[in-house]
Amino acid sequence: MQRPPVLRFGTGTIASLKSWVDAKGFQKPFVIADAVNAGRLEVLGLGAVGCFGDVVPEPDLTNLMAAVEAAADADLIIGFGGGSAMDLAKLVAVMAGTDLALSDISGPNRAPARKVGLVQIPTTAGTGSEVGTRALVTDPETLNKVATESINMLADIAIIDPDLTMSVPKFVTAATGVDAMAHCVEAYTSKRAHPIIDAYALQGIELVGRYLKRAVEDGTDAEARAGLALAAFYGGVCLGPVNTTAGHALAYPLGTRHKLAHGIANALIFPHVLAANQPAVPEKTARICAALGFEGGSVEAVLAGATAFCAALGLDMRLRAHGVPEEDLPTMASDAHAIRRLLDWNPVDLSVSDIEALYTRAW
Ligand SMILES: NC(=O)c1ccc[n+]([C@@H]2O[C@H](COP(=O)([O-])OP(=O)(O)OC[C@H]3O[C@@H](n4cnc5c(N)ncnc54)[C@H](O)[C@@H]3O)[C@@H](O)[C@H]2O)c1
Ligand SMILES: [Fe+2]
Repeated sequence: MQRPPVLRFGTGTIASLKSWVDAKGFQKPFVIADAVNAGRLEVLGLGAVGCFGDVVPEPDLTNLMAAVEAAADADLIIGFGGGSAMDLAKLVAVMAGTDLALSDISGPNRAPARKVGLVQIPTTAGTGSEVGTRALVTDPETLNKVATESINMLADIAIIDPDLTMSVPKFVTAATGVDAMAHCVEAYTSKRAHPIIDAYALQGIELVGRYLKRAVEDGTDAEARAGLALAAFYGGVCLGPVNTTAGHALAYPLGTRHKLAHGIANALIFPHVLAANQPAVPEKTARICAALGFEGGSVEAVLAGATAFCAALGLDMRLRAHGVPEEDLPTMASDAHAIRRLLDWNPVDLSVSDIEALYTRAW
């Protein structure tokens, strides 16, 4: 298991960033942020600081290269935002000041050692990217998500201050919370599930079961926000050694082909994959369902319970309600089926037509 050497968790921990930066002697910190977080750089307590504040949701190669160029002189990269900003920060930390292209470092273990420091500060409770070694960027030509993964992209420090998530809107809170839970669920039911990771996964699922609805209903509920920040962190721990399976594989085409955000794409797919996998992993599925507050003894019960769980968060669970055209389902199915790095670990082997059937049901 790989984690940043320093992890700070809790309300108010953001105030400790400056002393860490000073103690390490960094002179030119540079922030990678989305527009929302770029608008409140003062919470970092670093005074005037350079910033690329144009990170878009589900960033693509163009967005990445603009950030790399902006950060050329930095000695410390600070990812400040959701998974989109933190993923770009990981790549910027390796690429800034070099002439590396993404294609030179994509895939596993190709990124060279960093010459700059890396801090990660999540402001959504979703991806767990703050504790991971992986970054996802869309290739605008193929519309595929390119995964880059390296120990050199692991942060020197992650500061998880749940209060930074209080301003996340209801819909994003719901979608990112289901994403965090999906990381835990898919790792827990993966063919390469591991007992150490199972412990984190189950706690993460229980926390989402206990707190997600509360945080959606009242974004200022500090206890709920803290529970979800912890769940997202546990999900990030699950991603490293085990990673996701069919849920994320089927969610990716929704993002790359139809511009759905990562969180909502995963939420829409989650009940269908949990149900499809139930016969292969019945005990684990029953524990997941119990943690989320419903009974999961059959495929139908799992599908109904998980769909109702997500719908109760205010999510319209039909693909058609999110602009996915029915005629694209076959292409999406073949795209998803090709994501072998995830699907090979799913407890059930899903064919292209199985996947299309799941999409059709979700539509
Ligand atoms: N590295 C990994 O292992 C990993 C895992 C899962 C997902 N991802 C990637 O992460 C990205 C998705 O990240 P995300 O779900 O966190 O969404 P995001 O980073 O795209 O943010 C979603 C929206 O929320 C806004 N936002 C962020 N923090 C806010 C705050 N505190 N208050 C108000 N608004 C706020 C952002 O501006 C944005 O519009 C995708 O690109 C996905 O592929 C990476
Ligand atoms: Fe995810």
